[in-house]
Amino acid sequence: MRQEKVVVALDVGTTKIVALVGNLIGGSIEIIGMGKGPSHGLEKGVVVDIGRTVSSIRKAIEEAETMADIKISSVYVGIAGKHISSINNSGTVSINRPSRTILADDLRRVVETAQALQLPQESEVIHIIPRQYIVDGQDGITDPVGMTGTRLEVDVHIVTGSITAVHNLARCVESLGIGIEQIVLEPLASSMAVLSSAEKELGAILMDIGGGTADISVFRGGDIWFSKVISIAGEHITNDITVGLQTPVEEAERIKKTAGTALVDSVGDDETIEVATIGGDGRKIVSKKKLSKIIEPRVEELFDLAMQEVEDAGYRDLVPAGLVITGGTSLLHGIAEFAADRYGIPARRGNIPEGIHGLSDIVESPIYATSIGLLKYAVESRDFKRQRHKKPGGSLITKLFDWFRRIIRG
Ligand SMILES: Nc1ncnc2c1ncn2[C@@H]1O[C@H](COP(=O)(O)OP(=O)(O)OP(=O)(O)O)[C@@H](O)[C@H]1O
Ligand SMILES: [Mg+2]
Repeated sequence: MRQEKVVVALDVGTTKIVALVGNLIGGSIEIIGMGKGPSHGLEKGVVVDIGRTVSSIRKAIEEAETMADIKISSVYVGIAGKHISSINNSGTVSINRPSRTILADDLRRVVETAQALQLPQESEVIHIIPRQYIVDGQDGITDPVGMTGTRLEVDVHIVTGSITAVHNLARCVESLGIGIEQIVLEPLASSMAVLSSAEKELGAILMDIGGGTADISVFRGGDIWFSKVISIAGEHITNDITVGLQTPVEEAERIKKTAGTALVDSVGDDETIEVATIGGDGRKIVSKKKLSKIIEPRVEELFDLAMQEVEDAGYRDLVPAGLVITGGTSLLHGIAEFAADRYGIPARRGNIPEGIHGLSDIVESPIYATSIGLLKYAVESRDFKRQRHKKPGGSLITKLFDWFRRIIRG
């Protein structure tokens, strides 16, 4: 008999919120519902206005419920923002039982020892991902259960985030009576959607360039090694166009998508576009070269910052598979070519993997990479940090806070 299970992904982005309902059938995912709306209440990937965020989420959830004809009771929700940091650590335990057989419980014990470290102030653990196990000195083991040995070691990647940012996001979801299966680092989710296992194994950089942030992560040996968030993305390019061409934001956004490019040299000197003027219903003619000269330096700044982070972390020479770009801004004309040319590495836009069916027009856009990745995460993850915020209604602290707020408001 085929096992079926419904899972829901919630991507709370800076520019848009997406709720995606997936039906897991065996190893494949069928998308059966989708809700999407503009996001209000976030800045640079972080909730700054709970009320507005809640109503944006509600709209996406209700739309997805209607399309899939289900009631959504829990979600996998993505998190990003500058407050995220990550470190690698390791732990060791000895196996003392006479048989020396390694049990699932030993995995939990060894991961626990790897978790014993001083966290940055005001932060909490979001993920504890085992990168490899080592049994009596033999490394590269992904699942040691059933093996025999006396010494079990683990290398883990630990992702932490600000307690406030994590709780505010959780509260937004839980206040709608929806439980959280797990909070998932967005780049980790996106990687599951767009990186091939060969790329992850060999070493690759993933950049999810959205509206408010660009999330960079480095994968090697099949797992995430490094992640960092940069606060420059699509909205900054749009803002520069608004100022540079003296045009309204919506118009800047439109021409960025339809006529913008990251490659100044690809534009002829005589190419022009028509744009709206500010504060009137007038139109004016602008050179396309001028538009590209506004865009290219921002893209350059963004990639320079990203590559510097990768360099500083010591991974610049460990990513032979190069750069994979996803998120809405990956749709900017010439962006992958720009990066490939500037850094002399392979660069491509990420494609959505096989094994995803239904609503294929959605599935194919990089705008949905995080949501699709969240669904894949639900299926594939080996994360030890599971079901952190499970109950609708939230943690005790959340409840106390809400109770206190109600009293203040009378
Ligand atoms: N064809 C296009 N060309 C250039 N930019 C585009 C195109 N389509 C979308 N974008 C840009 O992509 C950005 C939105 O991307 P995305 O939906 O991935 O962001 P988000 O997930 O809401 O934000 P974040 O991940 O930063 O919180 C916007 O800035 C938009 O202008
Ligand atoms: Mg995003």
